[in-house]
Amino acid sequence: MIESFKLKNVEFKNRVLVASGTFGYGDEVSDLVDIGKLGGIVTKSLSMKPRDGNPNPRITETASGMLNSIGLANIGVEKFISDKIPVLRKHNTIIIANIAASSIEEYCSVLEMLEPLSGVHGFEINVSCPNVKEGGLSFGTDVKLVGRITKELRRRTQKPLIIKLTPNVTHISEFARVCESEGADAVSVINTLIGMSVNINARKPKIATTTGGLSGPAIKPIALAKVYETRNAVKIPVIGIGGICSWEDAVEFFIVGASMVQIGTANFVNPSTGITVAEGIKQYCQKNDIDDVGKIIGTLQTNKTISIIDSWL
Ligand code: FUM
Repeated sequence: MIESFKLKNVEFKNRVLVASGTFGYGDEVSDLVDIGKLGGIVTKSLSMKPRDGNPNPRITETASGMLNSIGLANIGVEKFISDKIPVLRKHNTIIIANIAASSIEEYCSVLEMLEPLSGVHGFEINVSCPNVKEGGLSFGTDVKLVGRITKELRRRTQKPLIIKLTPNVTHISEFARVCESEGADAVSVINTLIGMSVNINARKPKIATTTGGLSGPAIKPIALAKVYETRNAVKIPVIGIGGICSWEDAVEFFIVGASMVQIGTANFVNPSTGITVAEGIKQYCQKNDIDDVGKIIGTLQTNKTISIIDSWL
């Protein structure tokens, strides 16, 4: 049974990754989870300088989901290189460094620092964080800027380059197309949706920044539709993210067109979710005589003449 997946020059042992911001830098949970069984880890976003992030409260639970406004808090790329990479190297899995920045120059500088390191196998570029005033959505909702960022980074790396897209746009497929044409190897679909939650006694938002990013099972139907739209617009692989808690969820994403999946919010409930999902996918394939997970990707049967989403493409 083929579980592995190759992206550019990197072989993932299975198609299940843990999403940025939900698994720290891997070392925090390594006593609880057999990290070597994961397809890979996407690190918390890294910026050039350390960031404290947004004021508290910055997380609140919602119906079937969670709102966060962390504000890209992170240790900065230098500390990541000195303190985290030596530990991450000991785990037998693929490490994708997620990069966030407030200028194109910063994206390029962080990537250039990480590019030569053997402990970093690829990059996911965050142009979609809804919780910062500079960078984040101000980049990710501008199709020309997403194209420029992709082009500049592509020139600087031979490793897999993945762009993480926001669903907070009308047609995510336009953004995926520009990423593809500027040389990205894959797109991650989707980051969180802008949301709010209100304390009715205080009449205040439950999140200090008023809005935050909504994730978890509440967004899974939206994520599936965005993956389907993207997959039908580009040839590069789509990495599906959004509310995946079980192997059944992951299989839904494969059927609509995801080549890999990322587990996000579910890690806060159980950091071993990714491993359970990977094992469940394998059993599903064995039970259904599917010798390669890749064979179910994009196999959704639709009536294209009446499908609304197909009429956009
Ligand atoms: O606020 C945050 O750090 C979230 C980041 C993201 O959603 O990309």
